[in-house]
Amino acid sequence: MTATAGGSAPGRPWWRSAVLYQIYLRSFADSNADGVGDLEGVIDRLDHLEWLGIDGIWLSPITLSPNADWGYDVADYRGVQPDLGTLETFDRLVAGADQRGIRVLLDIVPNHTSEQHPWFVDSRSSLTAPKRDWYVWSDPKADGSAPNNWVSSFGGPAWTLDGTTGQFYLHNHLSEQPDLNWWNEEVRNEFDAILRFWFDRGVAGFRIDVCNIIVKDARLRDNPPATPDDDFEAQLFGQRPVYNGNRPEVHDVLRRWRLLAESYDTPRALIGETPVKVEELATYYGDGSDELHLAFNFPFLTAPFDATTMRSVVEDTEAHLPPGAWPAWTGSNHDMSRFSSRWAEGDPAKARAALLMLLCLRGTPVLYQGDEIGLEDFPVSQADLRDPLGVRYWPAYAGRDAMRTPMPWRDGPGGGFTTADTRPWLPLGPTGRCNVEHQRSDPWSMLTLARDLIVLRRQTPELQTGRYVTVTAPEGVWAWRRGERVLVVLNMSEGESTLTGTRGHIHIATNRERDGESFDKALTLRAWEAAIAEIR
Ligand code: NOJ
Repeated sequence: MTATAGGSAPGRPWWRSAVLYQIYLRSFADSNADGVGDLEGVIDRLDHLEWLGIDGIWLSPITLSPNADWGYDVADYRGVQPDLGTLETFDRLVAGADQRGIRVLLDIVPNHTSEQHPWFVDSRSSLTAPKRDWYVWSDPKADGSAPNNWVSSFGGPAWTLDGTTGQFYLHNHLSEQPDLNWWNEEVRNEFDAILRFWFDRGVAGFRIDVCNIIVKDARLRDNPPATPDDDFEAQLFGQRPVYNGNRPEVHDVLRRWRLLAESYDTPRALIGETPVKVEELATYYGDGSDELHLAFNFPFLTAPFDATTMRSVVEDTEAHLPPGAWPAWTGSNHDMSRFSSRWAEGDPAKARAALLMLLCLRGTPVLYQGDEIGLEDFPVSQADLRDPLGVRYWPAYAGRDAMRTPMPWRDGPGGGFTTADTRPWLPLGPTGRCNVEHQRSDPWSMLTLARDLIVLRRQTPELQTGRYVTVTAPEGVWAWRRGERVLVVLNMSEGESTLTGTRGHIHIATNRERDGESFDKALTLRAWEAAIAEIR
């Protein structure tokens, strides 16, 4: 297995021209009627992904987990979770994907393990256990309280007192997810070996879970109070997370992983989950060639869908990234409300404009399963909640289940996701017209739009590599050029709007009746219409 799938131009790494696709495995396709999506189900859908034009899939965690946080609490980094498949299934998936020019990327969770991981079981057993220092342990303060003021990003204190030894252990998420101690060289060596284990099986890269927080302040200092210019989360927790993560030493780990990734004949891609401001995001690319290949852009993902804000986030990103760095763009994921609900508020015209935007910016688009059919969040009832955050905070916060419900492949019971008689692990939303089968046969569908845009990207070098240049446009309209000859225009307003001083013809418009239309001197778009054009 070589991770050589797909084609890329000489000298241009494959991940730069790729369209990536996030598969939330438990909800993608269930091959064995147990109500849970699995690796075999992905194998069954590879032909579809090839048809769609996907170059690489990122799978949510496949490794052994007691599922306190649905795979993000790992109990064995080299073993496959039985209800998802086996290593043998995984190898067949990589081989089948390779035959279709699709690369397979995995999720790696280096910040924390499951409390059931044998490392932690050993670590908590005594003060002198061999793996004691693999986790972050600290004595209580004199009054018996937690070592410092850190709060978990899932709420509540980030420390739990462990009765066996009378020390606290750190967890930046659930107490079932103890944080590893990345100051320990043995931990670093072990993760090198884990990366190699999967790279050697043909894995083309990793999405690195919360990669900005894996290294903590060595002195465990208190976080300072939040100030009004801090983001929502800092305000919510009342503190700025400068010591329980976001440490400069994390870059040493990323540089080490980049060298490891590039020690292979075909360079493997490292994609960071980096929920930080744009200026900070830029630092995760190092000098542009020695840290992450791609870093998820949360200011973009969480921006309101209006022309001024989106344009300024993209311009900022373009301005801050070091030379040689390559942006990544995504509108949804398994933690965030889907863009068809959040950006588009259920309006198909807006969702189509968002899709066109994602596929036409300079950088690598990462679609989340369902984005391509305009799937919306499906709020689940309290009784159906699976996400520990929903369970804990209902009804103030319903958690992340609404964006994790099963993929509707066709209309009808089970929606083509499962043939189980029982209910799937999360309920299926309405399957009516928003399903793959229906949309594949409809030339006007969101799915057909997605496929046609991906084909156009493949055929148009400017769309893959051309630089991004903002074009002056009326208020409410965001327009940019890719290279010299490609123009992208989004009318993000409620009325018709005209971009003047341009001539050419439309390649693809979100209103497909306008594909191929010529314009001379001006291009007029209706409310929430978007188009990609070739200009003269
Ligand atoms: C980010 C993942 O995307 C999320 O699903 C998970 O709960 C946390 N990291 C903790 O691993």
